[in-house]
Amino acid sequence: MKLDIEFYPKCIVCGETYNPNEVVYVCRKCGGLLDIVYDYEVLSEEIRSKWLRRTLSVWRYRELLPIKKDELIVSMGEGGTRLHECRRLKEYFGLRYLHIKNEGENPTGSFKDRGMTVGVTKALELGMNAVACASTGNTSASLAAYSAKAGLKCFVMVPKGKIAMGKLAQAIIYGANIIAIKGGFDDALKVVREICSKMRIYLLNSLNPYRLEGQKTIAMEIYDQLNAVPDTIIVPVGNAGNISAIWKGFKELEKLGIISEKPRMIGIQAEGASPIVNAIKNGKEKITPIGKPETIATAIRIGNPVNWMKALKAIRESNGIAEKVSDKEIMEAQNLLAKKEGIFVEPASATTIAGLKKLLDLGVIDKDEKIVCITTGNGLKDIETAIKFQKVGISEAEANAEKVKEIILRKLS
Ligand code: F0G
Repeated sequence: MKLDIEFYPKCIVCGETYNPNEVVYVCRKCGGLLDIVYDYEVLSEEIRSKWLRRTLSVWRYRELLPIKKDELIVSMGEGGTRLHECRRLKEYFGLRYLHIKNEGENPTGSFKDRGMTVGVTKALELGMNAVACASTGNTSASLAAYSAKAGLKCFVMVPKGKIAMGKLAQAIIYGANIIAIKGGFDDALKVVREICSKMRIYLLNSLNPYRLEGQKTIAMEIYDQLNAVPDTIIVPVGNAGNISAIWKGFKELEKLGIISEKPRMIGIQAEGASPIVNAIKNGKEKITPIGKPETIATAIRIGNPVNWMKALKAIRESNGIAEKVSDKEIMEAQNLLAKKEGIFVEPASATTIAGLKKLLDLGVIDKDEKIVCITTGNGLKDIETAIKFQKVGISEAEANAEKVKEIILRKLS
């Protein structure tokens, strides 16, 4: 199909608008972040019946994705992830409703694929030959895969020694040019922004508003899967793009008259990397960046989240909250989720379960709320960290049934 609806980037601070055919990441007038806005009047709630006839996926919501030419779309079946009803975990916490939207089921194992299918397609529409990003791991894995499929050159800057091996392996195998930056993610992002402003290379960090358009489909999918709006969405926060994108998705559903209420957005950060949580808790208009962020959840080891303004807005507009969790709580939550539900997520994703537990203990979440936790990345990406925290070892035995039986009986008792 050809997209009939008009769209363009618009500054969230001063309202300046830009031509969708130009390369622009932030407002040239005031430096503010950009959002893609549509001529929503052209669509109506009728659109949903059309959506429901298509496969559950990012591209089900084609009319609200800012790509003009269908023939350029670079897709590997992203989105359409399951919304798991967590019976055992629900019982454990004493909750009435608990679902997990498991984004680890995406083609490269994280939610980033939702953004990259749109972002890399946009790179093709703009006629770019090369793409780049800074990354704590998942963005680089996803961009490497999508740019490989699109036949684009790919450059990824990662914090040296601070990304999980599985993610690095993905970027290597997909053929990205990897540059290990001596510094953290925030330093790497600064470098890549400068590079992309000086060279004809398309920047695909979440600063890029086109990428976030793909990620907003998490909201649409949740609504389609539940056939209801949840009360609460719990999301891990790093560079703060995803929480902003999901909120935008719900707002658009409301604009189209499809829903009349929206969930509250709860953002969870790791204790050592929690500038958004600090700003929310202290009622601040701006974040105070953290110079040396530290957490076992390397995916969200970020001290100066670029989308802070959108994220603070999303949390506040939705009457949401933000909370931080310790590395110990994160690793316990990773174990709990795996052992109760058979869902293995990476530490950054486990922050949602750790946050849920903490907020229930604090009485901030009600046991009757309809809760959806977004688990953002697959546990297989970071097996070293997961294995390090396991208490139970592996039993060894001769190839002899009697000996094995002894072990089994011990375990059963
Ligand atoms: N969970 C995982 C598994 C992530 O990889 C990230 C971000 C987040 C949560 C946070 O999302 O940045 O939109 O707030 N990872 C980026 C990366 C920074 O480079 O892969 P956010």
